Amino acid sequence: MSKKRVLSGIQTTGNLHLGNYLGAIRNWVDIQQDYDNFFFFADLHAITVPHDAKTLAENTLKMAAVYLASGIDLNCSTIFVQSHVSAHSELAWLLNCVTPLNWLERMIQFKEKAVKQGENVGVGLLDYPVLMAADILLYDADRVPVGEDQKQHLELTRDIAARVNDQFGKQKPILKVPEPMIRKEGARIMSLTDGTKKMSKSDPSELSRIELLDSADAIKRKIKKCKTDPVKGLTFDDPERPECNNLLTLYQILGNKTKAEVAAECQDMGWGQFKPLLTETTIEALQPIQHKYHELMNNRDYLDSVLREGASKASAVANQTLARVKAALGFLPPL
Ligand code: TRP
Repeated sequence: MSKKRVLSGIQTTGNLHLGNYLGAIRNWVDIQQDYDNFFFFADLHAITVPHDAKTLAENTLKMAAVYLASGIDLNCSTIFVQSHVSAHSELAWLLNCVTPLNWLERMIQFKEKAVKQGENVGVGLLDYPVLMAADILLYDADRVPVGEDQKQHLELTRDIAARVNDQFGKQKPILKVPEPMIRKEGARIMSLTDGTKKMSKSDPSELSRIELLDSADAIKRKIKKCKTDPVKGLTFDDPERPECNNLLTLYQILGNKTKAEVAAECQDMGWGQFKPLLTETTIEALQPIQHKYHELMNNRDYLDSVLREGASKASAVANQTLARVKAALGFLPPL
């Protein structure tokens, strides 16, 4: 039996932090052998909010290097840059024309981001989920691993696929309706300065997050300053101690330990004893990734060749789907 196809993407904005790594990248890497994977860097999505033309390309490359350094296996995974496969933009247009406006107006993420942008909301921000639907549907993806915040966009993707099939594919469905693979809450990493908030790249304080590429010194400093509480003895799952739960969770995941092991190890510890342990574990866990990352960034030819090959494999699949949709919609084929 052939492997099911998994597709996912990540927006190419800014640096990646521990929350991105433990919440998303590591999950992909862990499951990749069981699937036929397509992972891409969503640079077209990155421009749905005002962006800096000087850093877009560099951000995309860095992201690719981080993913490769984190253990993406090119034997079972194809990685590519979204804007290198023109079928994404093209299918998005076709889907735009079958998607009711009010489906997009109710998207929670649009409403939240639109408020933040005030007057100057681009059409692209509203259209974001349609491009995302195109991303997914082009590859006949079976499964789409995403965080909880993307669930509504996946439901929309399913609705759009069903609508295309209903309107134009009565004899034979045109688009495959994908299944979501929503990440468990378990790997939700919280801010170092407030254990009730998600670790986020938009938090104004750098102390709130550990970046994947932070130096050992930066990691040491951030953990030293991170928020704790005055209680001695460290425990998971105490609703009164969100920071404690978060730091133990980090220690557990980065150290590849079980929850029970960490609970036993830390039950009598104070912060003065725990923080150096967490620091050392974090530095050690990130070191191999950082090392590989710098190696890749210093070998642009290799990185370029991976992305070139990825785009070519992806285009081969995507262009077939695009042709199928165009035929179903009744376009005059290219002459
Ligand atoms: N919107 C996704 C996010 O912010 C990124 C993304 C773009 C994506 N296209 C996708 C994820 C297609 C999965 C499938 O996380």
